[in-house]
Amino acid sequence: MSLTINSDRLTRELDQLAGFSDAAAPAVTRLVYSEQDRRARAFLKDLFRDAGLEVLEDAVGNTFARWPGSDPDLPAAATGSHIDAVPNGGKFDGTVGVLGALEAIRALQSAGFRPRRSIELIVFTAEEPTRFGPGCFGSRLATGSMVDWQAGRLADKDGKTLDQWRGEAGFEGSLESVAWREGRYASFVELHIEQGPELEKAGVPLGIVTAIAAPVCFRVIVEGEGGHAGTVPMSGRRDALCAAAAIVLEVERAARTAGAEESVATVGSFDVFPGAANGIPSRVRLQIDIRDIDRARRDQVMNLIMTSCRDCALGRKLTVRAEPISMDAPAECSPEITAALVRAAETHGLGWRHMVSRACHDTLFMTRVAPAGMLFIPCRGGISHRPDEYAAPEAIASGALVLAEALAELSR
Ligand code: GLV
Ligand code: MN
Ligand code: MN
Repeated sequence: MSLTINSDRLTRELDQLAGFSDAAAPAVTRLVYSEQDRRARAFLKDLFRDAGLEVLEDAVGNTFARWPGSDPDLPAAATGSHIDAVPNGGKFDGTVGVLGALEAIRALQSAGFRPRRSIELIVFTAEEPTRFGPGCFGSRLATGSMVDWQAGRLADKDGKTLDQWRGEAGFEGSLESVAWREGRYASFVELHIEQGPELEKAGVPLGIVTAIAAPVCFRVIVEGEGGHAGTVPMSGRRDALCAAAAIVLEVERAARTAGAEESVATVGSFDVFPGAANGIPSRVRLQIDIRDIDRARRDQVMNLIMTSCRDCALGRKLTVRAEPISMDAPAECSPEITAALVRAAETHGLGWRHMVSRACHDTLFMTRVAPAGMLFIPCRGGISHRPDEYAAPEAIASGALVLAEALAELSR
């Protein structure tokens, strides 16, 4: 079978998809269910149908583009990723695994390949945690890792609920219906930019992922006492922002003192109420993201941070409430899938190395329902979640080629 990736078409489509954005290029901001997300979905569905794929969507907008196999009742070989983008992000995170998979399918079609199992390209809804809190929302719900009543309580920071958002975006039906029946997929492979510097530094074109680190995320709400910035003396203040600032520094300290490079903790979202320049802040809401490849060390950092929150509340005489958002176990990729990816890379004479993913991905949840794995390509400087995120067209084309080769094996 001779597989050819049309790199020009793939580059053009990635550029077109990046055009659906709430930020000026080269930045991409595309939050789930926003107007730009809806337009991007319509663009993709047209491409999928043009490639002869059958398109289905579930009640939250997870999208399934299916190339029926000659034995369509067998569990499908799946691939895919996400298209939502963090605020002021880049154009390759997630999208490479969606458009790269489409290109892989088109390469297989052009080569005259006929799959026995159906090949299904999945576009997961809300991989990014921006709108609702938990990351990988679509795959969490579909794989039964989050249940319908938990999803039903999700809302954005202004209180607008998941149901309101998805209804406006045209997605209806029960949240319960999103969960898959057991055994729906025979395999899952996600193509993704590395989002770190390892492959570029090593000069290796492909990373074959063996394990995925998982974040612990929680929301902290600090409640103090507001008042006039001029008339309330410093001695009597219970300023929520000063307390929150102290907590942020403790988050940094806890991760630094864990003693491992893989131990990281971040406060990336911070809302101050009421936000008046001459008013003492009465409430602050922040979100903490703690990660490690070692679960015990990660949880130790979390416990340190919790203790700091309690100490801060006592010392400053205000309330600090921590609400868990997600706490997932790291995942191992399937040896069966990593072996298929190794064979596919070697068939095309491409160098590879095994590696761990420090970022989180929908594959983490897919490992719970099917043999699953990931294929990484290098990105410039290891930069991601920034407008200057970049992956070279040749690197993306190599990823799509190896994905196509692996899908051919996995769909037999
Ligand atoms: C996904 O972008 C993550 O949070 O790792
Ligand atoms: Mn991301
Ligand atoms: Mn991603």
